[in-house]
Amino acid sequence: MRAAPAPATLTTARADCGSADYAENMAGEQSHFGGVRLHVVSGKGGTGKTTVASALALALAGGGRKVLLVEVEARQGLARVFDTGPLPYDEVKIASAPAKGEVFALAIDPEAALLDYLDMFYNLGRAGSALKKMGAVDFATTVAPGLRDVLLTGKTCEAVRRVTGGKSTYDAVVMDAPPTGRITQFLNVNSEVAGLARVGPIKNQADSVMRVIRSAHTAVHLVTLLEEMPVQETIDGVLDLRDASLPVGGVIVNQTQPPELPEQALSRARIGKLTHSGVTAGLIAAGIDPNMAKKAAPGLTLEAQRHAERVELQKQERSRLSTLALPTAELPYLSDGVDLGGLYELAAGLKDQGFA
Ligand SMILES: Nc1ncnc2c1ncn2[C@@H]1O[C@H](COP(=O)(O)OP(=O)(O)OP(=O)(O)O)[C@@H](O)[C@H]1O
Ligand SMILES: [Mg+2]
Repeated sequence: MRAAPAPATLTTARADCGSADYAENMAGEQSHFGGVRLHVVSGKGGTGKTTVASALALALAGGGRKVLLVEVEARQGLARVFDTGPLPYDEVKIASAPAKGEVFALAIDPEAALLDYLDMFYNLGRAGSALKKMGAVDFATTVAPGLRDVLLTGKTCEAVRRVTGGKSTYDAVVMDAPPTGRITQFLNVNSEVAGLARVGPIKNQADSVMRVIRSAHTAVHLVTLLEEMPVQETIDGVLDLRDASLPVGGVIVNQTQPPELPEQALSRARIGKLTHSGVTAGLIAAGIDPNMAKKAAPGLTLEAQRHAERVELQKQERSRLSTLALPTAELPYLSDGVDLGGLYELAAGLKDQGFA
């Protein structure tokens, strides 16, 4: 069942990240990211950003915490993962976690965020809807693509800082963020705005967004697979983020599969030392009909060799990732697909490995 949280308004965003309330550690004691309130989840396209962001939100909500999961790419990926209808531009409860923990989701609509923004600075009131009707908002966000990012990051940081009844509205905010190739520019867009608008409310707003993003309360995590391209993109992404002084969090290696064979068999398979006759004998010993065993042996031998090569490549990719010296978690490949049960399983994996 869905329930809307305290109404969201930009004007409630007045707490500072350094307040005692912020210092309340909303993650588990063993977490690498105890003081983090904004978790940004990026990674190469298709590696599992939306899935991992959702699992991380569930993990952080354990122990009765309230977490907001934010989508910025307007693709309704969260609705797909949680198997619900399209999300409105509103904060709606999307899942529960142990001890009355709650995950809310928000699909940020840049157009609605722009109206919020204009309202905040210029008190537009109903004039805002007139602008919308005229298509002015659509026009503005199309002409200035950077403006979209300003709005998306601005709205997210507003949720991070929002206070209800004297305490943070959300214990943590998790962003299903743009892919690695765009993440640095996306997170840095407000520093450009702050440079352009030298004084005034827009500069103040841009500065305050950058203060949240650059602070120790933010962590940018990168999701990868144990494959050459995503690993390279992760390594390059970490360097870019570090160059831009953005806070790198951890690496989440998604969709890992354990080796199917013991180490000794793997090394024999890799160097082509598994013979058809050896495999046939093994199959017969396991109770397979001798004729069937003979037929299956060549295919299985080849399969074993390919598997051994894959395991070896994964080992190399793991070792390349380890050079980053970042907290790293591995999540299993769920062969039945990612349903809600699967998300809770991934959430437990993230918690066990210190991400929540
Ligand atoms: N651990 C997993 N086990 C099995 N399938 C997974 C796992 N993680 C993700 N998937 C599947 O991989 C696909 C891509 O995942 P997801 O949509 O989360 O990636 P993404 O990085 O957000 O993609 P995009 O770049 O398109 O936004 C989905 O079909 C998802 O269900
Ligand atoms: Mg996605």
